[in-house]
Amino acid sequence: MRCLRLPGGDEEVPVLGLGTWGMGEARGRDIDMVAALRLGLDLGMTLVDTAEMYGEGGAEEVVGKAIAGRRDEVFLVSKVYPHNATRRGTAAACERSLKRLGTDRLDLYLLHWRGDVPLAETIEAFAALRRDGKIRRWGVSNFGMADMGELWALPGGTECAANQVLYNLSRRGIEWDLLPWCRERRVPVMAYSPLEQGRLLRQRALGKVAARRGVATAQVALAWLLARPPVIVIPKAGDLSHVRENRAALDLALAHEELAELDRAFAPPNHAKPLEML
Ligand SMILES: NC(=O)c1ccc[n+]([C@@H]2O[C@H](COP(=O)([O-])OP(=O)(O)OC[C@H]3O[C@@H](n4cnc5c(N)ncnc54)[C@H](OP(=O)(O)O)[C@@H]3O)[C@@H](O)[C@H]2O)c1
Repeated sequence: MRCLRLPGGDEEVPVLGLGTWGMGEARGRDIDMVAALRLGLDLGMTLVDTAEMYGEGGAEEVVGKAIAGRRDEVFLVSKVYPHNATRRGTAAACERSLKRLGTDRLDLYLLHWRGDVPLAETIEAFAALRRDGKIRRWGVSNFGMADMGELWALPGGTECAANQVLYNLSRRGIEWDLLPWCRERRVPVMAYSPLEQGRLLRQRALGKVAARRGVATAQVALAWLLARPPVIVIPKAGDLSHVRENRAALDLALAHEELAELDRAFAPPNHAKPLEML
């Protein structure tokens, strides 16, 4: 598995992981979701992204079942709701997440999006959780340029270990400013909805490149993202064949002409845009 180094240390994390949005919502399907996550782990996609929001804790329970007995293999990411992100609320939310996940620590804990709680208070809450050994790192999600600037100016703000944002071929706005800003500071960008929740796979331009190479369309979409460090890609797949296809994206190197063809179909930004969210 290709890895990327987190800032401020020499810890490495896989550049391709597993998303879990939508898991744990239909109880009858938990067994299938656990199997999909376990297959992903077997194939080396050992970064697992979840959140207290997904299925209102249901996704974390599914992840807990999938990682049971193999916690040490996994780089575990979860997220706190903005309305919980106070000093006491963050600690309580983290405790609930740990219980559902069946573990004593998170590797990365993210503020899911910017809310009304002062950022400085959330940073303090994260720092306290770190001191207590409940989380190893913290980061943010859905933070645009202004939010990152504000964060960086706060005491302890530069401890942020990642920013998880919407990024895929049809959502390239961050290439104008946020991605270079993060790259300069060695802050990994976690690309969520890398397949635009499946909708990207219906785009003809992408299908054409895939057909010519004899690979799955999803593979091309993910390989394109994987070629843009410092990006960590977290597709969600409940279908076992999708999990395998997604893993295979790491083995696909897109040629210069193919990248140019994709640029023509999915134009890069030519001005600053507000950060998009799903
Ligand atoms: N921080 C945030 O605000 C935020 C927001 C959204 C998402 N996320 C995170 O990012 C993860 C990924 O994003 P996402 O779930 O929104 O969307 P996504 O990963 O872009 O797409 C998931 C959809 O694509 C399908 N799919 C996956 N691999 C495929 C393949 N090889 N071929 C065809 N279809 C495939 C899945 O179907 P099957 O399940 O049937 O395989 C599912 O319907 C989430 O699960 C979550 O962990 C974070």
